[in-house]
Amino acid sequence: MSSFQTLTWLREQKSLRLLDQRRLPAEELVLECCDLQALAEAIKTLAVRGAPAIGVAAAYGVVLGVQEEIAAGNRITRQTFAAILDELAATRPTAVNLFWALKRMKKAGEKGLKNGFDKDDLRDLLLAEADRIYAEDDRDHHQLGEFGAHLIPDGATILTHCNAGALACAEYGTALGVFRAAQAAGKKIKVYADETRPLLQGSRLTTWELLKEEIPVTLICDNMAAHCMAKGLIDLVIVGADRIAANGDTANKIGTYSVALAAQAHSLPFYVAAPTSTIDFSLSDGSKIPIEERDPDEVRFFGEKRTAPAEVAVYNPAFDVTPATLISAIITEKGIFAPDKLSTIR
Ligand code: MRU
Repeated sequence: MSSFQTLTWLREQKSLRLLDQRRLPAEELVLECCDLQALAEAIKTLAVRGAPAIGVAAAYGVVLGVQEEIAAGNRITRQTFAAILDELAATRPTAVNLFWALKRMKKAGEKGLKNGFDKDDLRDLLLAEADRIYAEDDRDHHQLGEFGAHLIPDGATILTHCNAGALACAEYGTALGVFRAAQAAGKKIKVYADETRPLLQGSRLTTWELLKEEIPVTLICDNMAAHCMAKGLIDLVIVGADRIAANGDTANKIGTYSVALAAQAHSLPFYVAAPTSTIDFSLSDGSKIPIEERDPDEVRFFGEKRTAPAEVAVYNPAFDVTPATLISAIITEKGIFAPDKLSTIR
């Protein structure tokens, strides 16, 4: 359990409360999403972000969509239900946990519709499935953390990129879950956090979270990672993932690939920590992973301040793919796997 709640279903209000990650670390504000559109917008604008958290939020988003239809006096048909799923699926393309969670909600919803549910019974059944997705996320990340902690030597300094913490999940975290478990096991660890341009998930979120957990953290700019490795300041790297292809190629926040290349050049282990819901066995390799491209202004601006000419052309991919050959192992809730042995999970 963290000292903050990333997302909470409010049973009385029938709404989803999010810790608004766009405002961190300056303000700890919550955002209450009462309808499907508000939730979809929260995912698109990164009020809630990180692959597992997007999946959990979308599951509750389906419940919001169904509630809205019921409140408007509409029957839920296969078409209205499909439209709700489609709206959520269109929010962000890379993190497969979104599609994984929607698939589960679709299966649950279609079962309800087949049994003739079209009102509160359907809503309750969907809420129960969303609650299960939340609970499994938390359980799996604790398990993953336990496995990963064994890979961390006492006294190690670990580099991480972006935020793969409790802010990116229901409660515990993947890469940061490993750090938590290692610390709980009595290991003294230190973390270097990459700033993670353009949206600064490392500096805004990872440092905030680790300071709260009292895990020693040092912030560096992204372009300092190789230098820190060369200076012997880093012992290993652990990052999260947004989508892992069947061959182990891994999409994660833009900049992860360069960190992996630098780790290889310095003979440092590079681990990916992710639940099996992040593995997309339908894609043979990473070249098929859809990479989200975001608003050019995210690059033209640094926070609120414009740091580039308004008319300059910008390329802003939000993720990159680290080839499996650069990954030492993938830490999941089912154990630790060499990237080319992921198929054994199936
Ligand atoms: O654009 P974001 O902030 O959603 O990107 C998040 C990441 O890339 C995380 O590293 C990844 O989702 C793993 S979170 C456990």
